[in-house]
Amino acid sequence: MAGQTFSKVDFSKYFQPPSLKDARRRRREAVQIINDFTIPDDMETVGREKRYLIETYGCQMNEHDTEVMAGILEKMGYQETDELKDADVILINTCAIRENAENKVFGHIGALKTLKLEKPGLIIGVCGCMAQEEVVVNKILAKYPQVDLIFGTHNIHRLPQLLKEALFGKEMVVEVWSKEGDIIENLPQSRRGHIQAWVNIMYGCDKFCTYCIVPYTRGKERSRRPEEIIQEVRELARKGYKEVTLLGQNVNAYGKDLKDLKNYGLGNLMDEMRKIGIPRIRFTTSHPKDFDDHLVEVLGKGGNLCEHIHLPVQSGSSAILKIMGRGYTRERYLDLFHKIKRAVPNASFTTDIIVGFPNETEEQFEETMSLVRECQFDGAFTFIYSPRAGTPAARMKDNVPMDVKKERLQRLNKLMDELAAQSNAKYQDQVVEVLVEGESRKNHDVLSGHTRTNKVVNFRGPKSLIGQLVKVKITDAKMWSLDGEWQAETEAMHQ
Ligand code: SAH
Ligand code: SF4
Ligand code: F3S
Repeated sequence: MAGQTFSKVDFSKYFQPPSLKDARRRRREAVQIINDFTIPDDMETVGREKRYLIETYGCQMNEHDTEVMAGILEKMGYQETDELKDADVILINTCAIRENAENKVFGHIGALKTLKLEKPGLIIGVCGCMAQEEVVVNKILAKYPQVDLIFGTHNIHRLPQLLKEALFGKEMVVEVWSKEGDIIENLPQSRRGHIQAWVNIMYGCDKFCTYCIVPYTRGKERSRRPEEIIQEVRELARKGYKEVTLLGQNVNAYGKDLKDLKNYGLGNLMDEMRKIGIPRIRFTTSHPKDFDDHLVEVLGKGGNLCEHIHLPVQSGSSAILKIMGRGYTRERYLDLFHKIKRAVPNASFTTDIIVGFPNETEEQFEETMSLVRECQFDGAFTFIYSPRAGTPAARMKDNVPMDVKKERLQRLNKLMDELAAQSNAKYQDQVVEVLVEGESRKNHDVLSGHTRTNKVVNFRGPKSLIGQLVKVKITDAKMWSLDGEWQAETEAMHQ
């Protein structure tokens, strides 16, 4: 579809509002890999002496998109600021996963009105997953005139052109392609930090869990070529990065759409990652349905593949899993869980859980509790189900009152706290390898980092350790973090 902006009257035809029927057809469309990112000549220096600020909501995918947009803006001469009042361009990179995520964003856009009045030249842009929703765009057009620019997740590479229209035009610029997405390989990126990096291995999602908006906001599943990924990770290793996290909404579906590579999956890619001289490789997010034996076997080889698996279960009840459209039962999840545990005995496991799915009974919720007890997760992101317009679950009648959902969430969180404390207690007096990421946010005299199993460790040591892998002896295992002592002598022995 040609890039175009549109006025308030005719924009609706440029959207693909959530529609299961239409979205399912998309799998047949071919994905194109393009290298056509350019900055128009007259935009190359437009940002000189000017500043930008990007606020990011949502998942790692959004965090990484922010790095790409920062890279684009920096190519136009803009510099980053963390002060709203100093910014000439403010982009709000939004998340649509739950209603409260959206409300936060609207509150914030509302608050920017005064700033815009004080500084009329300021450009305010809204992008990310909310921009893919027609209702959201309608609402912004109707109620938030302070916004100059709205663009979707498939339009990031068009930021220079869109910014130009916003700077020099009078109308609000809206460009949200309903196109399911190509892969653009030559985008600049300005990574936050020099120790850890995110690398997209695939985009979109074709799982269509019945509660979820992501398959509509991010388009169809499409994998990057392995050689592009390998080259990017090698380059990061060369630059001295210590940890790479491979990203996708359902990384276990990696490679399925690469028709010329027969049976090339995440297991093959991870095997390639093992050969790269970077100390730590992680991946997220795993969908249990596509987690195959080859991947389990490769993870068992260890090396730079970290022993932490984020394996969202969503519910412990097979009946609920079925209406969620997850494609596995409680038993299959548990089989997979134990299989991975056997292959990677020291692995830590985290998960995502939704409570209060429409018509969830007390017994079904108890099945979730018992699964959590059996798996003894190290941590979990737990959510109350939030209906998303256009998804199949949003049309289901729901007989569970909100106070019951809240009470279930509290019970689940209490159990998670107990399990987290138990799992951390096992680290007492152990010596662990920590990648030192920086100063602790709470106390600048303390350094902070993660173990291979993704536990937070705080300890005292010289700032020169930042960016290094060090040995730390755990002296105090708390519920959500570990305090320890830096083992300087062991370090010396190794060198
Ligand atoms: N692709 C990932 C998850 C992305 S969204 C996966 O499948 O695991 C992150 C988490 O948000 C999900 O795992 C789910 O637990 C939660 N979530 C998604 N949609 C939701 C909704 N409508 N209401 C509440 N939680 C939701
Ligand atoms: Fe959403 Fe399911 Fe896709 Fe995860 S796998 S992004 S929960 S549809
Ligand atoms: Fe949110 Fe979009 Fe990520 S909806 S969770 S930012 S893919």
